[in-house]
Amino acid sequence: MYIMKLHNVTRAFGGLRAVDEVSIEFSSGGITGLIGPNGAGKTTLFNLISGLLKLDCGEIYFDNIRVDGLTPWEIAKLGIGRLFQDVRVFKKLSVLDNVLLAKLQHPGESPLSVLFSTRRVTNAEKENLGEAHKWVKFVGLSGKENSPAESLSFGQQKLLAIARLLAGGYKLLLLDEPSAGVNPAMIKSLLELMKKIADAGRTIIFIEHNMTVVLEIANWVFFLNEGRVISFGRPDDVLGNDEVRKAYLGV
Ligand SMILES: Nc1ncnc2c1ncn2[C@@H]1O[C@H](COP(=O)(O)OP(=O)(O)O)[C@@H](O)[C@H]1O
Ligand SMILES: [Mg+2]
Repeated sequence: MYIMKLHNVTRAFGGLRAVDEVSIEFSSGGITGLIGPNGAGKTTLFNLISGLLKLDCGEIYFDNIRVDGLTPWEIAKLGIGRLFQDVRVFKKLSVLDNVLLAKLQHPGESPLSVLFSTRRVTNAEKENLGEAHKWVKFVGLSGKENSPAESLSFGQQKLLAIARLLAGGYKLLLLDEPSAGVNPAMIKSLLELMKKIADAGRTIIFIEHNMTVVLEIANWVFFLNEGRVISFGRPDDVLGNDEVRKAYLGV
């Protein structure tokens, strides 16, 4: 079962084909790693999937719906959420409010319909609050509910950003270098969280430079180089591939 299919996806910047005829089928459920040297086209691929960039050609299907050509809003509404390299939480808002807002902001929800019925407001508010608490706990930020996001460490802010994705109800999570800039102890929590999310039935695709991380949690790996998929399969096999070792590891 595939959750997303890319067919011949291509995008150039000037003369440079950042993503060059990429065809990938992403399994539903589990954790897929996207690896490759700097400039390989990994982030561009995420931008194409989430609609932030237009394709030059090719097709992208999510849940058998063609999504290339849709707006980022429409794509998010279908269930694709994104963690950016630079995190992007509301720094001045509390942890709990960050998560609450993610729930209300989710394109599938209509805050307006809630506002027009007082009775439903109370119920919905209670429900939303309970759910926000649940996700804060799920990502391991219990006790930080009332702290402003800016008081958290960078790693904790990533956990918060992930809590926002979970509250938003996205079933496919695109995580761009979740472990980057995070201290080793926090990386451990982050990996456990990613496994827990996958175990709960959501699909994760993540970009990663740390091969230890890839070997530890990825079920499948795609290796990109100069915009093309060079190798894919189980992490051990991909990282043992000669071309991958030459292009990436320099050995
Ligand atoms: N908006 C852009 N305009 C011009 N060139 C870009 C843009 N985004 C990415 N590129 C180029 O496309 C290539 C792939 O970049 P990127 O997808 O960020 O690689 P990765 O995430 O694998 O490091 C790089 O050569 C980069 O300079
Ligand atoms: Mg990148």
